[in-house]
Amino acid sequence: MSNARSCPINHDFNPLGDAYVADPYPIHSAVREETPAFYAPAIDMWVITRFDDVQSALMDPKAFSAAVGQRPVFPLSDEAQSIIKAGFHAYPVMSDCDPPRHTRIRRHNQKGFSARRISVLEPKVWAKATELVDAIAPGVVDLVSALTYPLPAYMIFTFIGFPDEDMDMLKSWCGNRIAFSWGRPTADEQRDIATNMVNYWSYVEEFVAKRAAEPVDDFTSDLIRIHQQDPRSLSIPDITNVAYGLSFAGHETTTSFTGNAVRRLLANRSQWDDLCADRSLIPQAVEEVLRFDSSIPAWRRITTRAVTVGGVEIPAEAKVLLLLGAANRDPKHFEEPETFDIHRGDVRKHLAFGQGIHYCIGAALARMEARIALDLLAQRAPRMRMVEEQDFDFPANVSFRGPRKLLVHWPE
Ligand code: HEM
Repeated sequence: MSNARSCPINHDFNPLGDAYVADPYPIHSAVREETPAFYAPAIDMWVITRFDDVQSALMDPKAFSAAVGQRPVFPLSDEAQSIIKAGFHAYPVMSDCDPPRHTRIRRHNQKGFSARRISVLEPKVWAKATELVDAIAPGVVDLVSALTYPLPAYMIFTFIGFPDEDMDMLKSWCGNRIAFSWGRPTADEQRDIATNMVNYWSYVEEFVAKRAAEPVDDFTSDLIRIHQQDPRSLSIPDITNVAYGLSFAGHETTTSFTGNAVRRLLANRSQWDDLCADRSLIPQAVEEVLRFDSSIPAWRRITTRAVTVGGVEIPAEAKVLLLLGAANRDPKHFEEPETFDIHRGDVRKHLAFGQGIHYCIGAALARMEARIALDLLAQRAPRMRMVEEQDFDFPANVSFRGPRKLLVHWPE
C-alpha cells in the first residue's frame, strides 16, 4: 500500500508577486519547511522544495521531461502567436529537449565547449573586462550597464562567432525576452518581443548559412565541421537552433549572476574586503553566490507519469517548478544556509547549474566570466561602495533573477 498523500495546495505562492520578486528566499524557506511539494494555482505548477527531491527530479529525465523549459508560462495573445508562427522556427535542441535528440545534440555541443575553446576565450574575457572597467569614471555608476551586461553578451556572441558590429542590434533584440517565456508580458510587449525573436531568428539562420559556406575558427564553425563530416548526426537547422539558444542562455544568466555577486559581496563588506586582500578567494566566492543567490533560482519540468515526491502525489503531465534556490539553502545539506559566507567549506555541492543530463553546458564559461569581473573590480576598485539609497528592480518571472541596475560609488 502506498503512503502517498494527495498534493497540498498553496494559494499564496506566486513567483510574480511583489514580495517574491523582491526577495524569494524567505518564501522558499517557508515552503521548504512546510512541505516537500505542493500545487500553486497562481502558476498552475507543482512546486518541489527540498534538495534531495529537486536533485532526484533532475536525475530522472524519464519521469521529469524538460520539454516545458522554454514554453511561455501564461498563454500568448493571438497576435504574438501568429508572429511567432510566421517567422520563428525554433525547435527543442538542448534545455527543453529530451533524449534521444538531446543526447545526440548535446554530445556534439560538448565538443564545441572544449577546454581549448574556453581557454582561448579567457584572454579575450580579460581584455574586454579591462576595456569596460577602464572606461568607468569616478562617481556613481551603474555596474550592470557598465560591466555585467556588456561583458557576457560580448563574450557569448564572440564565442558563437557573431561579428562585433552586430552586437548592439543583437542586444536590442534580446530585450525583455525573459518576460515572454517566464513572465507575464502585456499584449503589446508580447508583440514587440515576438517581432524581435523573429528578427533574431532570421539573423541566426543567415549567419549559420554563411558559416556553412565558409567556416572559420569559432564555435559555430566547429559545429559546421561536424555537420560536414556526418550531416545526419547534426543538421544545419540543429546548428541554427543551438546558436540561437546559446546566444540567449549565455548572456542574461551571467549578467544577472555577476550583478547578484557584486551586490552580495558589497552588502557583506568584510567579505568583500577579505576577497580584495586575498583574490585567491574569488573562485569560492563565486560558488557561494551560486548557492546563495543564483541567477536561476527555479527551473521547470513536466511529469511524464504520476510520481511521488517526499510522500506527495504529483499526477502525470503536471508542470513542475524545481526550486533550485530553496534546495541550495536546505539545512539538511548546508550549515547555516541563510548565511552568505565565502569561507564556507561545503559550497560546491549546490544545484545552481542543475545536475545530470541537462547540467549547464556553459558553467565553465559563466564561472570564468564572473571570476574575471570580480578580480578586476577587486584590483581596480577595492574601495567601491554600494549606493545605499537604491531600490533594486528585479524582472518578474518564474526562473531568472538579477538586478536591472546596480549603483555603486566608484572611487577616484
Ligand atoms: C551563472 C550563470 C548560469 C547559470 C546560473 C545557469 C544555470 C543553468 C541551469 C539551472 C540549467 C538547467 C539545468 C537543467 O535543466 O537541469 C542550465 C542549462 C543550460 N545552460 Fe546554463 N547557466 C548559466 C550560464 C550559462 C552560459 C554562460 C551558457 C552558454 C554559454 C549556458 C547555457 C546553457 C545551456 C545550453 C543549457 C541546457 C543544457 C542541456 O539541456 O543540456 N548557461 N543552466
